[in-house]
Amino acid sequence: MKTKIENIELESIVDVINNLDTDTVLLVVDHVVWSHYSKELILEKIENKKVIFWKAPDGEKVKNITDFQNAVEFFLEKGIHRNAHLVAIGGGAVSDFAGFIAATILRGISWSIVPTTLLSMVDASIGGKVAINSKSGKNLIGAYHMPTNVWICSKFIDTLPETEKNSGMGEVLKYCFLDYSIYDLVIKKAPIEQIIDACAQFKQKLTDEDFKETGIRRILNLGHSFGHALEFIYNLPHGEAVMWGMALVFKVFGTEKNINDIIALKNALNIPGKNPPWFNKEFPIDKIMTYLSKDKKISALSSIDLVLVQDIGNAQVERKTFEEIQAVLETNKDELKKFTF
Ligand SMILES: NC(=O)c1ccc[n+]([C@@H]2O[C@H](COP(=O)([O-])OP(=O)(O)OC[C@H]3O[C@@H](n4cnc5c(N)ncnc54)[C@H](O)[C@@H]3O)[C@@H](O)[C@H]2O)c1
Repeated sequence: MKTKIENIELESIVDVINNLDTDTVLLVVDHVVWSHYSKELILEKIENKKVIFWKAPDGEKVKNITDFQNAVEFFLEKGIHRNAHLVAIGGGAVSDFAGFIAATILRGISWSIVPTTLLSMVDASIGGKVAINSKSGKNLIGAYHMPTNVWICSKFIDTLPETEKNSGMGEVLKYCFLDYSIYDLVIKKAPIEQIIDACAQFKQKLTDEDFKETGIRRILNLGHSFGHALEFIYNLPHGEAVMWGMALVFKVFGTEKNINDIIALKNALNIPGKNPPWFNKEFPIDKIMTYLSKDKKISALSSIDLVLVQDIGNAQVERKTFEEIQAVLETNKDELKKFTF
């Protein structure tokens, strides 16, 4: 099934829910989003439908098995059926969580997303990967379950904290390396709505070609192998970690042009100047390798696939052994300590 991606106004969210072909709506809303927008999201205007409302604790906290069980039991107690439709309103955490409910409750019901963070507009709401976290790691309990609609309203960005905005910009920066037309929009400082739309459509196109991520969709992981390790080690917002993950992969496996491009794009996207988290400190090779080998335990491989970029719009996946990665980090560790942009 192909997701329909549409741009809508804040005031129209209730209308699009009203138009869904169902008599029962399961609504999962991020509680911070609800505190900002409950005046605009007038649920009383949803007519002839039973609306079952579940407010999610903000952000990542919701992606756990206890909240999953509580929400599912709550919806089942209220009475739902196979033709019910779930709507998630929130950032990537809420859409991952709510999408996993939609994928599993009654063996799967249809669902739609209103992404409310920049990161979820350009990335997390697209592609149907849904998950909650396990004690053993992030996103380890999940499914593929394509949403019917993604309704994007860029107005939500107005209330986003700066760190979350910049995190979303980190993912936008990634797309610039994967697609020339997105690069061009960013360098020409096109309106953010246009950039969001281009990123969402690009991810949707790759997802349509390769739903289960065995081929071309893997290029979307640019910056993510190192990025996930840095996110974990330094507790960074996801998109910021992806940006430093890209910088790292470019520095040790990439080209001078990659580095010049990332600097130009960071400036074009107004991402504030900040040193990488390891700047002037011991570069955390052991921690990075431990993190990567935790992934290794899960994938049972002695190597990982890194995404490298020949030039803007020309990315490919290359397999690197752990020994190779460790060696190149060791060789570059002194230079990395001073590396910033
Ligand atoms: N499924 C995928 O393909 C995919 C891709 C990338 C990331 N993800 C997941 O997305 C999650 C990160 O998502 P995120 O970056 O959107 O952050 P998030 O959902 O954790 O939200 C970040 C913070 O912003 C708040 N917030 C959300 N919208 C707001 C708004 N409009 N105004 C004010 N505050 C608002 C939230 O309450 C939270 O405190 C991670 O769990 C990650 O694993 C999934």
